[in-house]
Parts: sequence; structure tokens; C-alpha cells
Amino acid sequence: GHLAGVNILGNPYIFDATTNVPDSILQLVGRNLYRSPDHPIAITKALIESCFPKPTYNHFTVADPVVTTHENFDVLGFPKDHPGRSRTDTYYVNTTHLLRTHTSAHQHAAFQSLVNDEAKGYTVCADVYRRDSIDKSHFPVFHQMEGARVWDLPVSADSRYEAQLRRKEIIEKDVYNLPTTRLAVKDPVTNFHKGSNAAQPEHDVEEVKLVVAHLMRSLEYLVNGVFEASREMMPPWQRDKMGPLHARWIEAYFPFTSPSFELEVLWNGEWLELLGCGVVQQPILNNAGLKNSIGWAWGVGIERIAMLLFGIPDIRLFWSQDKRFLQQFKCGHIKKFEPFSKYPECYKDIAFWINSSPAAASPIGVESSSGVAAAAGGDARKASPAETQPAAFHENDIMEVVRDVAGSLVEDVQLVDEFLHPTTGRKSLCYRINYRSLERTLTNEEVNDLHSQVAAKMKSLFNIELR
Ligand code: PHE
Repeated sequence: GHLAGVNILGNPYIFDATTNVPDSILQLVGRNLYRSPDHPIAITKALIESCFPKPTYNHFTVADPVVTTHENFDVLGFPKDHPGRSRTDTYYVNTTHLLRTHTSAHQHAAFQSLVNDEAKGYTVCADVYRRDSIDKSHFPVFHQMEGARVWDLPVSADSRYEAQLRRKEIIEKDVYNLPTTRLAVKDPVTNFHKGSNAAQPEHDVEEVKLVVAHLMRSLEYLVNGVFEASREMMPPWQRDKMGPLHARWIEAYFPFTSPSFELEVLWNGEWLELLGCGVVQQPILNNAGLKNSIGWAWGVGIERIAMLLFGIPDIRLFWSQDKRFLQQFKCGHIKKFEPFSKYPECYKDIAFWINSSPAAASPIGVESSSGVAAAAGGDARKASPAETQPAAFHENDIMEVVRDVAGSLVEDVQLVDEFLHPTTGRKSLCYRINYRSLERTLTNEEVNDLHSQVAAKMKSLFNIELR
């Protein structure tokens, strides 16, 4: 019979039981916001790139967001049961292909490009996709930038031992030559010898310390550069009162680096997590043809930084085609966003009981439920067994249903009430959906219609009872 599928940027994909990417998401593929030089995403990207200059670093972008599960997870050492792989978190095109959830999906290829190259590092910028909650700072499509740097073993050395000693000297010199900042930083007390965040067994601990120092000083330079650019647009009396920018390093975990860290910055009295990084797992370098290299990598969300830099209050604004937004920004300039009139908001609640019948369990097991919700977008998977009965409910499912029905007409979705019935033991949830357009005033009829579509879809897809 007829096999349903989709064409994404010229490549055909056939849907299967794993597919959960809705049309509303596919419509955002190919916008390439980072390519319009005056867009805040592009301005932020350029600012970050300038901290990692040529010829040491090459700068890439990758327009096609479809990657294999191998590139996004396996090659990076994600365990088979890692939650990031689940269909409640990730948009699958089908069993073998997905919309990348991070720019690390391009690490392997980017490292390969460094073999026999003059450049010793790279940055890569791309749009990434995650099934997530809806609020002012979360949108299912956002942008990430990733950077990496490697050091080869010098070839002229007499022995491997000699070569390693030389490489340490080179890294030490590179650390020393990095520009210094006036940032006030706190390092974590890390024991590189043991523990869950230790140096990798095949690495020399002293060399790892140098690589980590280079990584930390490079990212401090990045953060300092980005935030100084933002402070420059403040009036002097305000800037002087602020004193130095405060940052701190904390230990972290990523499957593809060890040791791993996160950098946080104190901004308006709050510690904000800005980026993740670490020493690259040696098998990743080995697989990419860099078995005589050691190196670091980092990854950062661009919207997060751009919202702080430009004072942009709502992540959906990055997707706005409104001149009042786009004409405010100019390539190479950081300036405060000037709000233009907001259209009125409109709240609607949806409340339901969750039925606990085991018959509702998805045939896909732990990865469960939500693919069903997202799949509702197309006819493609009508025949899929997962859709013949309502699935168990997961919080990301309502986000997906709302997003699929109302797209960017929803500002946020919040759980406002949750309780257990004292006798039946059934759970009730109430979500508040805030409908608001960035481009116009929504009519009452329109909002009522959207809301009843959400309710109908929730009812048909999940094992719930509307209240
Ligand atoms: N890919 C990670 C993320 O999306 C960030 C990261 C990149 C961490 C590279 C370490 C090294 O959260």
C-alpha cells in the first residue's frame, strides 16, 4: 500500500511507528535565522565566534537538522536507556532519523575535518529540536553553538613519552597566552584522580589539568566578552555600581566528556547556567581519526545568551517576522530591545482525570505514550498500533497537543492544580493555557475554537477523562 512520509530539505523519509515529529515543527525547518546578519541570533553567533578566531578555529553551520540516532546519541556514548533518547523528549522522523537535539550530533564529522588540517578547533552553529514545556524561555526549536579544540602529539619527538611531555609544554604555553579577563571566578575543587568526574583512565592527570585550564580560561573569555558587550550599553552610573562580573564553575555530567563542567554567571542577582563543557571522551577522538590528540568541547544555547544581551523577554520573538522586532537590530551592535505593544492575553483551563487502566500502556514500553500525541498531526501513522487505543499521559504530551493545535499562538502552559481523589485514588490535573499572539489580537471565537480542539485531541489521544 501507500507509505506515508515527508520530504525535509530535499530528502525523503518514510514514517514508521517511531515517528513523532508534527507538521508544526517541520514548518520551522529551514528558516536559518542565524543567516540573517541583523538577526539577534546571528549577532550573538558572530560575537561568540569572534572569541574563537581563525586560523586556530574553523566556523561551521549545518542547515539540515535531520541526523541519525547514531550521530545524535550512539557515537557520543549515550547509554541505551538515556532519557534523552525517549520519544517524550526527542522528535523522531522515523526509527533511524531524528531532528538533532544538540549540535554535538556534528562532533564526529567536525573532528574528522580537523585531521591533517591547519585548524586545531572549530565552532558549529545550528538549530536544535527538543520536546519541552512551553513558557517564555522554552520553544521546541532553538539554536546552539558548540566549540572544540584539540592538541596533536608533536611528530618530531623521539618517543611517545617525549612527545607527551612536549605536548604538555605546548598546552601550558597556550593557556599562558590566552587573554585574561576581569571576571571574578570560582573554580570547583576537583579531584582529577578519582570520583565520577575524574580524568579518563588513558589520560595523564597533569595534562588533563592543563586542558581543563585552557577550556575554562577560553570560556571565561567568551562570557566576559559577551557580557561586557552588554554592559557597555548601560549608562555609566549603573555599570560602575555593578563591579566585576561574577561567574562560577560547577561539576557536571555529559556522556561525551570527562571531566565535565558547567559555567554559571551571576545576572540580576541570580546564578544562571550558561554552558556545558569538558574533556572529550578519548574514543570519540579516536573514532574520528584523532587518536593522537587530546581536546576539550563546549556547548551553549544561543537564545539564552541573546535574551540576556538584548533584553528580549519572550523566546518566540526570535521567530517573529514583525518589522517592529526585526528592524530594531543591526549586525555587530548590541542594544536593548524596545518592547512594542503586546496584544491581550486569554487564559483557558483544561482539567481531567487520569485513568489508570493498564490496557492503556503503549506497546513501545518505557518510551511510551507521547509519540502518539505528536503523530496526531498527520495521517501517516493511522495504521500504527500505538494509535488504536489511548495512551498513558505524560506532561510533555499536553505541550505537544497545544503546540500542534495552536502553534506560536500560545505563550505558556502551566500546571495549576493537581490532586488525588480521596476514595478512588484517581489523579486530577488542571492546566492553564495562555493564548496570545505576538502579531495580532485573537478573537474570543478563535480562542474558544482552539481550546475545544485541544480538549478534543487530548480526549481522543490519552486515557483521560475531561472534567
Ligand atoms: N551537547 C550538550 C547539551 O546540549 C552541551 C555540551 C557540548 C556539553 C559539548 C559538553 C561538550 O547540553
